[in-house]
Amino acid sequence: MSSADHPVSKRRTFAIIAHPDAGKTTLTEKLLLFGGAIQLAGEVKAKKDRIQTRSDWMNIERDRGISVVTSVMTFEYRDCIFNLLDTPGHEDFADDTYRTLTAVDSAVMVIDAAKGIEARTLKLFEVCRMRDIPIVTFINKMDRESRDPYEILDEIEQKLALDTAPITWPIGRAKSFAGTYNLQNNTVRRRDEEEVPTPVNGPESSAASGLLPENERQAWIDEVTLARDACNPFDLQAFREGHLTPVYFGSALRNYGVRDLIEAFCDYGPSPRAQDADTRKVEATEDKMTGFVFKIQANMDPNHRDRIAFLRVCSGKLSRGMKAKLVRTGKPMSLSAPQFFFARSRQIADEAWAGDVVGIPNHGTLRIGDTLTEGEDLLFRGVPNFAPEILRRVRLDDAMKAKKLREALQQMAEEGVVQLFLPDDGSPAIVGVVGALQIDVLTERLKVEYTLPVGFEPARFTVARWISADDPAELQRFINSHRADIAHDLDNDPVFLAQNTFSLSYEAERWKAIRFAAIKDYQ
Ligand code: G4P
Repeated sequence: MSSADHPVSKRRTFAIIAHPDAGKTTLTEKLLLFGGAIQLAGEVKAKKDRIQTRSDWMNIERDRGISVVTSVMTFEYRDCIFNLLDTPGHEDFADDTYRTLTAVDSAVMVIDAAKGIEARTLKLFEVCRMRDIPIVTFINKMDRESRDPYEILDEIEQKLALDTAPITWPIGRAKSFAGTYNLQNNTVRRRDEEEVPTPVNGPESSAASGLLPENERQAWIDEVTLARDACNPFDLQAFREGHLTPVYFGSALRNYGVRDLIEAFCDYGPSPRAQDADTRKVEATEDKMTGFVFKIQANMDPNHRDRIAFLRVCSGKLSRGMKAKLVRTGKPMSLSAPQFFFARSRQIADEAWAGDVVGIPNHGTLRIGDTLTEGEDLLFRGVPNFAPEILRRVRLDDAMKAKKLREALQQMAEEGVVQLFLPDDGSPAIVGVVGALQIDVLTERLKVEYTLPVGFEPARFTVARWISADDPAELQRFINSHRADIAHDLDNDPVFLAQNTFSLSYEAERWKAIRFAAIKDYQ
């Protein structure tokens, strides 16, 4: 099979990164609409609008059907298969978003044309940059009063240290916004409904500038001419390496520029990338199946305590019924009912290829960060665990239920809902989260699913760091002299708990051979 015919070459696995309100939901919806995965605009939006308050979040957590169907959405466009991985909008679930970004090959960065780069875009961009994920930029809301396009490009270059190459240029702005001009091949697309753009004879052509009011035409022709002369040309390699972003302008709400964006993905990819494992690099086109779990969703069906593990296939073909090896335990597991997700439904996956994401139902066998192979002992690294921002001591009023609580917390930790730290001195478990809302979700789930009414109290500590050292004896010395401040996590790795950042710095200064890590890879 030539590489162009390989099923992997058609896969495009990506996520959308954006600051809240920039238009991620609207864009998702339009992508699904053009990919034939939904029929009507408004379906994704309606779901999002239901998730407005805290209590709604709880309901969603209970009624997992809704959130899970939007976790990954598969659709087709031209001859490409797209896997769009959704990321939680709420900042309190940021760790989930970061983990999801380890499973994509590229990302769309949506920017509000009036606001430019906002805080969360910057943060998410930095996470993508850690893995050199290629970014396609979509400047949204051109139908409103916006900043000058050059100013936005400049801001991307300055704030993100990322080269920009505009592929399209907006024809007019705000009320005059009338479509997009493709600088590469001199075509005009007025609206997304137009499948084939119209070839034109340069910006002077009446088919292009004629879309604008008389008094705006010349300025626009000058702008496009300048864009062609002065902006970076698109460089595929620089894009694939994460150094340059192709830029598209549009309005997701009004159906402008979205089709330009989808076509860019078909044309420039990237298709599934090689993935780093501990022993070697795994190419997507290798024959044998490998993959890793980046997300777990519990209680898909509240009557059965099942969990869905989302597996990113990294190489080979995953076939329904195959036996895989769970490398962490060395045990085989049968993949009898892998599933694909669509906008509104799921379906048994008979086969999946590198780049695809399949849901694997299980009863707690799989954890975040797990690697599955056809037998080879290799581990994909890099699904990150972030040091929590908030630490809480669990208060259980009914001491008889301590064991049950321990099990429940362990399960939640395996799902990635919280992190669990067991103090070496035997005092009650400490849970760590990145955002306060996660504590609410935890409380609610312990109550509803495990009938465990618990409370959370501030812990004596506010900072947790994974500790390690080249010399095991030195690490042991540190542990011995800080017994009351040491805990172990789910993998039994030692963690130093500090009262505040000041005491952390103090210890780090005194114990130079000890590493205090704020990020740990799952293993
Ligand atoms: P998010 O997921 O990134 O948070 O953003 P979302 O798509 O929900 O969009 C946020 C708001 O911006 C919505 O308005 C949406 O309609 C609007 N919007 C998205 N794309 C465009 C665009 O291209 N042009 C314009 N003018 N507006 C856009 P809302 O008032 O919050 O909701 P709604 O009641 O209008 O739906």
